[in-house]
Amino acid sequence: MCGIVGAVAQRDVAEILVEGLRRLEYRGYDSAGVAVINNNELSRTRRLGKVQELAKALESNPLNGGTGIAHTRWATHGEPSERNAHPHQSQGDIAVVHNGIIENHQKLRETLQGLGYEFVSDTDTEVICHLVHHELKTSDSLLTAVQATVKQLEGAYGTVVIDRRDSERMIVARSGSPLVIGYGLGENFVASDQLALLPVTRSFAFLEEGDVAEITRREVKIFDVEGTQVEREVKESEVTHDAGDKGEYRHYMLKEIYEQPMALARTIEGRIANQQVLDSAFGVNAEQFLKDIKHVQIIACGTSYHAAMTARYWLEDWAGVSCNVEIASEFRYRKSHLFPNSLLVTISQSGETADTLAALRLAKEMGYKATMTICNAPGSSLVRESDMSYLMKAGAEIGVASTKAFTVQLAGLLMLTAVIGRHNGMSEQMQADICTSLASMPAKVEQALSLDDEIAALAEDFADKHHSLFLGRGDQYPIAMEGALKLKEISYIHAEAYASGELKHGPLALIDADMPVIVVAPNNELLEKLKSNVEEVRARGGLMYVFADKDAEFASDDTMKVIPVPHCDDFMAPLIYTIPLQLLSYHVALIKGTDVDQPRNLAKSVTVE
Ligand code: F6R
Repeated sequence: MCGIVGAVAQRDVAEILVEGLRRLEYRGYDSAGVAVINNNELSRTRRLGKVQELAKALESNPLNGGTGIAHTRWATHGEPSERNAHPHQSQGDIAVVHNGIIENHQKLRETLQGLGYEFVSDTDTEVICHLVHHELKTSDSLLTAVQATVKQLEGAYGTVVIDRRDSERMIVARSGSPLVIGYGLGENFVASDQLALLPVTRSFAFLEEGDVAEITRREVKIFDVEGTQVEREVKESEVTHDAGDKGEYRHYMLKEIYEQPMALARTIEGRIANQQVLDSAFGVNAEQFLKDIKHVQIIACGTSYHAAMTARYWLEDWAGVSCNVEIASEFRYRKSHLFPNSLLVTISQSGETADTLAALRLAKEMGYKATMTICNAPGSSLVRESDMSYLMKAGAEIGVASTKAFTVQLAGLLMLTAVIGRHNGMSEQMQADICTSLASMPAKVEQALSLDDEIAALAEDFADKHHSLFLGRGDQYPIAMEGALKLKEISYIHAEAYASGELKHGPLALIDADMPVIVVAPNNELLEKLKSNVEEVRARGGLMYVFADKDAEFASDDTMKVIPVPHCDDFMAPLIYTIPLQLLSYHVALIKGTDVDQPRNLAKSVTVE
């Protein structure tokens, strides 16, 4: 979703800003722009399309100046166009970039038009610059004008404001859209994601909800929602500088698929002792919170929701607690029942997904016994606002289609199953078996990755297809859903997933030779049932691709291609069967020539509703 970068320095900042935007490209966007102040003049360049277009424009017409802001826009109000791209301006004095949605923009627009301000874009953002301009008429500084402005905004914003008449300062404000301040030597920065600033600093402070900050070259002053000056902890980033590089890989997605063994090893490290998962994996006070839990409510979106659905099977089968799973955008707008001793778990790669965050806040109001997040972003809103957190340590995920975050979420959820299970009488043997399984996941994923060439060849079959069906049973049903989501988001082939027992209740009508059916078939207690479903498809002339354990005794023939998946235990099977499905979607997308890392219409980190 939209990206923000800002800088106040003695050197020219346009290149730093554009490099920052490049590092945020993975979030998805449709246009990009930059504005800098030079000799008290504001200059701005914006382009529809890729950051590269903006960079080219700046090569021919460089912008000089030490104070500047830049933005990649993902359209919400107004079509993607240069006119709607940020930064927006008021009277050639004020320039603003903004992430989020201003819900009362229409009313503010009318008021400002009444005051004589002329609007030149369709965006909600433009109200911010005119409001600041208007407030400056009665304020003694840019800071107080922005403070007065944000009081009038309803909705979500992360915003940065500069004024050509006060050229060595930027004012930033956060409510609902993350902003991080980067501290340099004699220069300071702001961005919506620390990744953007790693080439220039490693010291960061995350703004809290309602914070407004004044940033100059020498100083950063932060004020909370009451206007009181506050300190926010400055931490050294653990994210590596090359997190934004593709290395030897053609796409971030492929790099991230191949990083899974390492990411799994990292997430497990230090969290298991004496064949037990440590409560402390979920935070310092986790044991106290977890020991009486009898019900778990999990909330997430997209891929993270599929991880949640998988965990429901585990928590109910093995940990002996009841579990509900719901999509965040549904949970937040309905009245749900609160069971006694309930734990609310959110799952999120980014930690900033607007719906998930709103669901967490609602759950806290409802009185859940405790809240936990399974999250990949240490300083994120979900981590800061939850009682407990499991930090995934998957490393930065840049590809819009989530891959390594999903398998690491599954590992974290298996650990949660073991811990909650222990507090509810899970046998020592089962706990030990889960630990053994966790420890052998990295090597097993390596084996699954060796299917890459075979799957690349198989992918050819899909290139001319428009629809596909994914089938699984039990905890492989959510894996089928995740496989279908991956295929549709990056190859644009329509893909649906069904619990295979549901076939006869409707989807069998779709089966013909043009509808490839992908089946995930580990050798578990549901295998025989699944085989009956496979026969139902075969009898109707369907063409199947079966990912199966070699002991599952499927044989390739005219109607079925069998891809042998390494033998694995029940605890890790969902995770292992995910790998070939990720590779399949990647190779199909390659053949179709889509933008694998930034599929159309999609954004990483969905910070608006
Ligand atoms: C799909 C994908 C999305 C995200 C969803 C939630 O590949 O990446 O479906 O899983 O937007 O995002 P997080 O996990 O950041 O809350």
